[in-house]
Amino acid sequence: MDKLIVHGGSKLTGSINISGSKNASLPILAASLLTDQQVIIERVPDVSDTNYMLQILSALGCEVERYSGTVKITAANIISEAPYEIVRKMRASICVMGPLIARLGRASVSMPGGCVIGDRPIDLHLKGLKAIGAQIDTEGGNMIIEAGSGLKGQHVDLRGKHGPTVLGTDNLMMAAVLAQGTTTIESAACEPEVVDLADFLNSMGAKITGAGTRQITIEGVTSLGGTHHTVIPDRIEAGTFMVAGSMASESGIILNRVRKDQLLGATEKLRESGHLVRFSDCGTSVSVSRGDTAKGCQITTAPHPGFPTDMQAQFTAMFATTPGISIVEDTIFPQRFMHCAELNRMGADIQVDNGRAIIHGVTSLSGAPVMASDLRASAALVLAALTADGVTEINRLYHIDRGYEMIDEKLLQLGANVERQRGSA
Ligand code: EPU
Repeated sequence: MDKLIVHGGSKLTGSINISGSKNASLPILAASLLTDQQVIIERVPDVSDTNYMLQILSALGCEVERYSGTVKITAANIISEAPYEIVRKMRASICVMGPLIARLGRASVSMPGGCVIGDRPIDLHLKGLKAIGAQIDTEGGNMIIEAGSGLKGQHVDLRGKHGPTVLGTDNLMMAAVLAQGTTTIESAACEPEVVDLADFLNSMGAKITGAGTRQITIEGVTSLGGTHHTVIPDRIEAGTFMVAGSMASESGIILNRVRKDQLLGATEKLRESGHLVRFSDCGTSVSVSRGDTAKGCQITTAPHPGFPTDMQAQFTAMFATTPGISIVEDTIFPQRFMHCAELNRMGADIQVDNGRAIIHGVTSLSGAPVMASDLRASAALVLAALTADGVTEINRLYHIDRGYEMIDEKLLQLGANVERQRGSA
């Protein structure tokens, strides 16, 4: 297993390009199952989650070609059984359900198991698919989804107790594009990744309006065709490096290939904490540096356009050494605070109670061997290590490789003193 060794204290400077979005790529790759024609998708980040999705598509019968960030997929002859061995490695595999049921009238996909960031039920995914005519049974740990008499458009409210669901909205949208009649999704997720999926589907010939709002309307069509699409920038990777700039750059780091309108939550909170965030006029590049009078603040995660849960751990790491008291509450995944125990081992003063972290900023952290527990928690540990005294050894780096493309190389490019130590699997 690879480790990342971080020597704290380097001042960051220079520029990097932000990769294409992992969370937009995953459903878009799955949506290629909706047509027998070739789709070409650009800026797919080379991370293990997109690799798992491509393995699933290959196992379902797709022809897949990948070179640099471009992926070409032809789903001419596909089957309906997604293999457990690959599906179990990634929760987002469930987004093949919608396309398979739409295209083949049948899907067999393993039930996802537990998840370290909290309970992640799929009741809303199933509610959406059932509402438009799918029957769902479970057998040997698999969900068998069938639509014997076809899918029919309906009015569906997808609001759950923690708000809307991103992949649940995606699944229903992907199933409804080939249904008879019109589907309206109320309380839809309006994250930029949902909009990117709708744009992709519309470029294949779907008729979707309202993506990016709480009500999405999908007028079913009889078939979809090939397309060429470029995935949006990864707003969470960009946000993570914005935090790195705020913690460890005096002269400023520049992040290219970003979208200002997708970074509002992180930008607002970095500025409120006293840091300097300046976008280029066109909003596609941003410079971030540490402010002279950093101070703690309060964050509550919320569905888009609120502050993203996927940025919660990184801000918690920043607040660990920010003067004053900060309060971070996660309303979407209240159990997503595994990083706090590791940050405390580095000398932070964080108390977690009932979905909320209270952080008393300390002067500095000290390097230590730490354990990554999930993707964003690992990013938080890397950020903490950048300014910690001494050396931090981040174990289980595979968590970070799920969603950050070449993180060690990008950090080196910005002047951080990091080294990946390769280990056996
Ligand atoms: N929920 C339900 N029932 C469902 C589905 C979700 O109760 O059927 C609940 C969840 O437990 C959670 C809330 O609804 O409390 C929102 O979950 P959502 O379904 O939106 O999460 P997701 O679609 O499975 C995506 C991202 C996550 C990100 C969340 C929230 C992808 C591949 N994953 O997951 O990203 O945290 O939306 O924004 O897009 C990450 O990248 O690190 C990551 C975990």
